[in-house]
Amino acid sequence: MEKTETMLKDALNSLSESLEFEFCLVNMMDFERRLEKDLSLLSVLTEKETDYLNNLKINKNKIQWISGRYAVKSALFRHKLSESTIVNTACIDVLKGPDSAPYLSQYPELCVSITHSFPYCIGIVAKNKFGVDIEKIFKPEDSLIEHFYSENEKGILNCFKGTEEYSKKAMVFWTRKEAASKVFKQGMKLDFKGLDTSRDRAIINCCNIHFKSIVCNDFCVSIAFEDGI
Ligand SMILES: CC(C)(COP(=O)(O)OP(=O)(O)OC[C@H]1O[C@@H](n2cnc3c(N)ncnc32)[C@H](O)[C@@H]1OP(=O)(O)O)[C@@H](O)C(=O)NCCC(=O)NCCS
Repeated sequence: MEKTETMLKDALNSLSESLEFEFCLVNMMDFERRLEKDLSLLSVLTEKETDYLNNLKINKNKIQWISGRYAVKSALFRHKLSESTIVNTACIDVLKGPDSAPYLSQYPELCVSITHSFPYCIGIVAKNKFGVDIEKIFKPEDSLIEHFYSENEKGILNCFKGTEEYSKKAMVFWTRKEAASKVFKQGMKLDFKGLDTSRDRAIINCCNIHFKSIVCNDFCVSIAFEDGI
């Protein structure tokens, strides 16, 4: 079987070209191993990012935080390079706003989105509004489907009950909802049940939102983005 990481990178690469975003995929397991041997990797963090890190108690959360900053900074570096500018990313703050959404202090006009699902972390930087979500594919509980999925999505899932496709479809819908919630910085406040993600396009908060989804072995990634590309 082809390595999931390579498949994810290839698929994201081709999407990034057509949709005009920059991304970085970090393997958090490798990152943690490198960090154990080389603490200088932490120099990628600013003082504010380090302060946030120091308040985190659980090691997994710390690795996710550092990986997210590293992924966004790498994506920002590429984005700025495409504009013929070199950025010292160690001076850029990737912080959380009051809505928990990530933002770049020094480039508030740029959109940032982060997602993690062990061992992968993806950071995206773009001029337009984007949201990204990754999940390891699993079969969601019926109660989750009942509570968060639209009637149309439930109807489609019913046709795949008992097949391998069921979990894949369910996770495509789920990651699309999460990605859309990140576009609008709403998190779980978005009406997940009212949002039908079974088509590649939906109207959310009066905006035209498009979806792209990738399934690579047992991982699913969705990107939601606003019209205008
Ligand atoms: C906030 C939420 C978007 C997080 O989603 P998630 O799938 O749990 O986690 P992800 O790793 O994909 O995303 C985490 C990132 O989302 C970003 N994020 C958090 N709140 C956000 C918001 N309101 N808007 C946009 N982005 C947000 C942050 O950048 C965070 O990473 P960071 O802490 O390193 O900065 C939200 O929808 C949530 O809490 N979901 C609950 C998930 C759940 O219940 N899953 C069970 C069934 S699968």
